[in-house]
Amino acid sequence: MGDDMTATPWWQDAVIYQVYIQSFADGDADGIGDIAGLRSRVGYLSALGIDAIWITPWYRSPLHDAGYDVSDYRAIHPRYGTLSEARELIRECHAAGLRVILDIVPNHTSSAHPSFVEALRASPGSPARSWYHFRAGRDGGDSPPNDWLSVFGGSAWTRVQDEDEWYLHLFDASQPDLNWDSQEVRAEFEDILRFWFDLGVDGFRIDVATALMKAPGLPDLGYPDGAFLADLTRPNHPHRDRDEVHEIYRSWRKLADSYDPPRMFVAEAWVDDADRLSRYVRPDELNTTLNLFYLKSAWSPASMRTAIDSSIAATASVGAPTTWSLSNHDVERVVTRYGRADTRRIPGVSGPELGPVDERLGRRRARAAALLTLALPGSPYIYQGDELGLADAQIPPAARQDPIWIRSGGRRWGRDGARVPLPWTTDGGSYGFGDDGAWLPQPAGWGSHAVEAQDGDDTSFLELYRQALRLRRTHPALGGTNAVTWHDAPRDDVLLFTRSPGFGCVVNFGPVPAPIPLDGQVLLASDGADFDGLLAPFGAVWLDLDHATARTRHEEPGAR
Ligand code: NOJ
Repeated sequence: MGDDMTATPWWQDAVIYQVYIQSFADGDADGIGDIAGLRSRVGYLSALGIDAIWITPWYRSPLHDAGYDVSDYRAIHPRYGTLSEARELIRECHAAGLRVILDIVPNHTSSAHPSFVEALRASPGSPARSWYHFRAGRDGGDSPPNDWLSVFGGSAWTRVQDEDEWYLHLFDASQPDLNWDSQEVRAEFEDILRFWFDLGVDGFRIDVATALMKAPGLPDLGYPDGAFLADLTRPNHPHRDRDEVHEIYRSWRKLADSYDPPRMFVAEAWVDDADRLSRYVRPDELNTTLNLFYLKSAWSPASMRTAIDSSIAATASVGAPTTWSLSNHDVERVVTRYGRADTRRIPGVSGPELGPVDERLGRRRARAAALLTLALPGSPYIYQGDELGLADAQIPPAARQDPIWIRSGGRRWGRDGARVPLPWTTDGGSYGFGDDGAWLPQPAGWGSHAVEAQDGDDTSFLELYRQALRLRRTHPALGGTNAVTWHDAPRDDVLLFTRSPGFGCVVNFGPVPAPIPLDGQVLLASDGADFDGLLAPFGAVWLDLDHATARTRHEEPGAR
């Protein structure tokens, strides 16, 4: 790639676009996104102005959890293509100036993985079983070995057929947890990392990075009767954020740093304590971590400011850059969440239970949030389709595929609504996603959000993202990791900060126009117009402070 590889590490402020491969673009008309489709859209991605793509699992898998159940970590699932197509994709991305990050799933394999199949065949206590967590059940084998619950709901244990032993799975029964006390498991994963690094990938997102190590003896959590979902919030948790996990990542970092150029890691770490989170990105550990404070925050000035400050503080304390994401494939899309009265992300709950959605309002807020996010220091993540302003789709129950929906017997809505194939064209069988149909039904009217519908329309979501990403590359204050300076706002529902040199960002969270309390020329506004010095309701604006305009400074109506 370019000659800047040895300067400031690229991942410090890279804009990373999440490709949910089965829903991005379908190149072979089977209704499922694939590498051929992705290759045909590299031009779109590079023109969008991003720096890297993160591709969700594309490995061989029985697909009980959308590929987060891997049966061969060194093979591409045939429905996505071949290893040589993967190699070509990486080469083409690099040629277009885009880095490629893959998803590694180290906490569990698929139950169809040869090592688990072998473990099942082997007898209790055998070396093959030591790759996983097999334990004798209680009550003569009739009850699970402990009370742990799955993150998807129900017991975290499944009994081996015709035996008293059970195996642990913190997610679906088809995803047995690996035993990271095993040196063989550790060696195997380092070999997998090498395999892909040698193929040219630039980094990995680490799935459930916090869960690999379990407390010795697998002690009970003490769940109340009737508990259904894993509680991940307890201190000194027996299967979450154990201190011992860091040794694994120190070793991985050494491996990544042994490459030229060094490869990178981003942790998926749902850790609520800023200090605990910062441990994952100490200088000899992972490079970055996904930022779930920001993703969970309510769209309110106080909450967003706290999320921003605590995120920056957590990572700055160990010299790591901060990342920012508004959504991903596991949560409701930002337009949907921001269209509700309560804009927080509520763990374990989604869908209509959370109340009605005003998508128009959600879109206005999401546009403002895009400008806020892209103005922050560090590395923003964009979930595919967020640049089109997509909302969650209502998936008919019969079409749902998420194990959360299936395991809960329909008690939990699941994540399918955020995973619907992208619309590329305004018409056609699958709105340009592929030739024929889409694996999850696209809602009527999906074409009005298509790339084709938005391309060249200055008022569109897509053009807002394109302009913001262009400015982020060219404005000397944007990108990078330099500080955010907050300023007092004239009203409680307005946030404003500056970055040096000469950049200001103002966000109006409220329903009435707000004065723009900084002198500067409007670089970009989320709501098109700047209302002659007033910031639109639910709008955000970027300002060039070195070029003040002659526009009138408005006082807040009724302020005097
Ligand atoms: C987190 C992934 O993002 C999610 O999609 C998956 O279901 C779980 N980890 C289990 O691998």
